[in-house]
Amino acid sequence: MRPLIRTARCCLRARERAMATFSVAPAAISSSTAARPLSSLRPHGRLLLPCFLHAAPAPAGARPLRTSAAAASAVEVGGVKIAREDVVKEDDPTNNVPDTIFSKIGLQLHRRDNHPLGILKNTIYDYFDKNFAGQFDKFDDLCPVVAVKQNFDDVLVPADHVSRSYNDTYYVDGQTVLRCHTSAHQAELLRDGHTHFLVTGDVYRRDSIDSTHYPVFHQMEGFRVFSPDDWSGSGMDGTAYAAADLKKTLEGLARHLFGAVEMRWVDTYFPFTNPSFELEIYFQDDWLEVLGCGVTEQEILKRNGRTDHVAWAFGLGLERLAMVLFDIPDIRLFWSNDKRFTSQFPPCYKDMSFWINDEFTENNLCEVVRGIAGDLVEEVKLIDNFTNKKGMTSHCYRIAYRSMERSLTDEEINDLQWNVREVVKSKLKVELR
Ligand code: PHE
Repeated sequence: MRPLIRTARCCLRARERAMATFSVAPAAISSSTAARPLSSLRPHGRLLLPCFLHAAPAPAGARPLRTSAAAASAVEVGGVKIAREDVVKEDDPTNNVPDTIFSKIGLQLHRRDNHPLGILKNTIYDYFDKNFAGQFDKFDDLCPVVAVKQNFDDVLVPADHVSRSYNDTYYVDGQTVLRCHTSAHQAELLRDGHTHFLVTGDVYRRDSIDSTHYPVFHQMEGFRVFSPDDWSGSGMDGTAYAAADLKKTLEGLARHLFGAVEMRWVDTYFPFTNPSFELEIYFQDDWLEVLGCGVTEQEILKRNGRTDHVAWAFGLGLERLAMVLFDIPDIRLFWSNDKRFTSQFPPCYKDMSFWINDEFTENNLCEVVRGIAGDLVEEVKLIDNFTNKKGMTSHCYRIAYRSMERSLTDEEINDLQWNVREVVKSKLKVELR
């Protein structure tokens, strides 16, 4: 067992620290995929994710960041009522939870569909729904107040591990903490019979302050169990099979989020997985750690009713990914009540394909679209381009419609799109497909 020492952790570059509680500095780069860095690629170019506002001044009337003064005296999470006095105990030396932290419990930013964390959670759900229809059970409302046993013992965190210290973790009392990772729920969900699950939740860590660190952030845990039947025909042992499946699944997820990005696997250490890896992606001229993962320690499966099975697990930091995908410059913005940030109106996408002619230009197309949709059009983007055997070239454009002031109705957008199609056909003389 390699204990993580505080000094080693402090030496890690800032961007590596957000997920580093349980890992040590990368030991080796184990493999690399894809070609050269695609640093010019904008990550949201692929998904058309909305771009959130930068730290511009709040409009008149916007509420300030929520402070402890605004905190409710009790909140409810997943059917559990949590009162202030349940978690903040000023006179108890085994408690180190301040009011500022209590005020964040129950806010559940990841459950707000228009919040960048909610959008990201749903985008990851889409990937699992598309590739593993109906297989993964989803949890995003599990109570963040957990037993020390759940947070540490059940996932084999050694007794002397630095993450157990009062310096690193928020303790409610000697036996209870605010979970510092979503791995705290692995054992109970396994015991409940789940074999494929995603757990999203707020996690709490005492940490340094900078633009990418905040004592409350959000993680998504993924977990998948395999039975001997799954790997018996593969020619691999269970561990190799699970590791290969894990890497394939997560590379697919990274491409779903970031497009054709270069990525690499780095060997690391977590108490609950072996082998353990981190996935890094090449983004804006640097390698960015996006998640930790590995093949689950047999002991965890054995203790929770899955002897002879193997499993993989991953944990990813939602803020880390969202900051990159949505261009969010400071982690505090996730907690802003500014309406421009929390309830940005959703975009609506419409695709249109046609055979182009020699006179066709994209600018002419944009002029037509803007002439009809005005400022409701946010983006016109070529998403497919091919030439057939007869030499005819087809273009597919994706049009993003979005109002800055209101949600658009389906009917309204369908009308706009119908008009766009008609005028594109008659004015640009292209053949719609
Ligand atoms: N729980 C780990 C962390 O927070 C991430 C992780 C989850 C790693 C599952 C491996 C498997 O750092």
